[in-house]
Amino acid sequence: MASIIPVEDFDFLVFGATGDLTLRKLVPALFQRFRARQFSSACRIIAAARSDLTDETYRVRAEAALREHVPESQLEAETLSNFLQLVFYTRVNGAHEDGWEQVNAVFAGAPDHVRVFYLATSPNLYGAVCNNLKRHGLVTQKSRVVLEKPIGHDLASARQIIEDVGQVFSEKQTYRIDHFLGKETVQNLLALRFANVIFERLWNADVIDHVQITVGETVGVEGRGDYYDHSGALRDMVQNHLLQLLCLLAMEPPISLHADALRDEKLKVLRALRPMAPHEVGHLTIRGQYVAGAVAGRSVDGYLKDLGEGRTSDTETFVALKAEVRTWRWANVPFYLRTGKRLPQKVSEVVIQFRDIPISVFPPEAAEMQPNRLIIRLQPEEGIRLAMMTKDPGPGGLRLRPAELDISFEKAFAIHYPDAYERLLMDTVRGNATLFMRRDEVEAAWLWVEPILDAWANNAERPKPYAAGSWGPTAAIALIERDGRTWHEELG
Ligand code: BG6
Repeated sequence: MASIIPVEDFDFLVFGATGDLTLRKLVPALFQRFRARQFSSACRIIAAARSDLTDETYRVRAEAALREHVPESQLEAETLSNFLQLVFYTRVNGAHEDGWEQVNAVFAGAPDHVRVFYLATSPNLYGAVCNNLKRHGLVTQKSRVVLEKPIGHDLASARQIIEDVGQVFSEKQTYRIDHFLGKETVQNLLALRFANVIFERLWNADVIDHVQITVGETVGVEGRGDYYDHSGALRDMVQNHLLQLLCLLAMEPPISLHADALRDEKLKVLRALRPMAPHEVGHLTIRGQYVAGAVAGRSVDGYLKDLGEGRTSDTETFVALKAEVRTWRWANVPFYLRTGKRLPQKVSEVVIQFRDIPISVFPPEAAEMQPNRLIIRLQPEEGIRLAMMTKDPGPGGLRLRPAELDISFEKAFAIHYPDAYERLLMDTVRGNATLFMRRDEVEAAWLWVEPILDAWANNAERPKPYAAGSWGPTAAIALIERDGRTWHEELG
């Protein structure tokens, strides 16, 4: 049974409050936690942005967002109205001078509350906003800052942002969000590996042939073209979400779940990733860009048209790559990663493929042997399957066939998974940084990704086109097939 541990009273100030992230994710997540009675009516949510709005007009927007993103059955009238009373709006230009008296006035009434400053703005404003918070005396002992990704555009800009924010907030007060870590099923990777003895004994190069991580999305750039075109799939997804998944899969058992114990182990994995030399990038990575096609039976435009008529772009909307973790545990076990927009399915899945049996005692006609596979479905239809060979029942000789041990978490626990942000926002109030990225992790991830970005920038070849609704360019299939392996066939 889920248990709710109430948090201390807090004031939650969001910069960038009129943006998509705040209205689509943060406001609904806070509403759900309020609905679960995790925080009291003494708490306040302070929406800050440059637009000229009042508490009332912002509440109308917040309510509209809730109606769009929360199932109607969960929007009980009284709870909704009580929640909206906790929402205030303040007009401030976070990176400049105007509006700070009003922010000060809002906070003056609650000096003892935990203060969460959530920066959902462009990362190049993070330093200036933090500096303003300090200059206006808003940073108390019980204050924390939450930084949305991307932290920078490359290693140098990431370091600059980290330095600037670090002038105001200590590392302990800084929460760098990677919302994948807030997903219950991603945390379940820790439970699977470290709360069971059976997998960990097999979790190494002796028996594992390779690992696949796929994060597919059916959406295109959805009005986020300006951000996305400066980012691309490698920065937007691989540098953070996919590498974090890889860390949880590849790391050594931490000595505890204390924030630093876990992050120390993840950092070791990031540092053990073999850097790609410029001449290797061409065959260890594939980048693609979607062109018009059909997703789930619906015709959709290509990326360039999504950006706007007449636009050109070399930004990748798909990336597949082969990574190597240089540790004894993972020697010669490739990690194949792929992610993209406008793929046929929204799916996040990890496949641990075990080695072939050393020698078969079965006659070749008994069946084609298939190696064991552990398939961990992170979303949707969360669950775990273990593919194994079994005897085909009935007479007619000893014939074999593949079968699966299958647990669906949805069916097993009959629960609805909370959104990743719900857990993470409450963790910032609680002061638990376990599921947030430490400074050195962010830097190590950029350090590994940067040679790929550089090699791409220095190569005149454009990203390879792929039809929307396909699994990326054919070169992504060749990337793994060249090694005598295939992408998990159910995904294509
Ligand atoms: C975000 C990326 O971090 O993650 C988006 O910026 C992406 O481009 C999103 O769509 C995917 O998250 P989720 O929770 O929908 O799997």
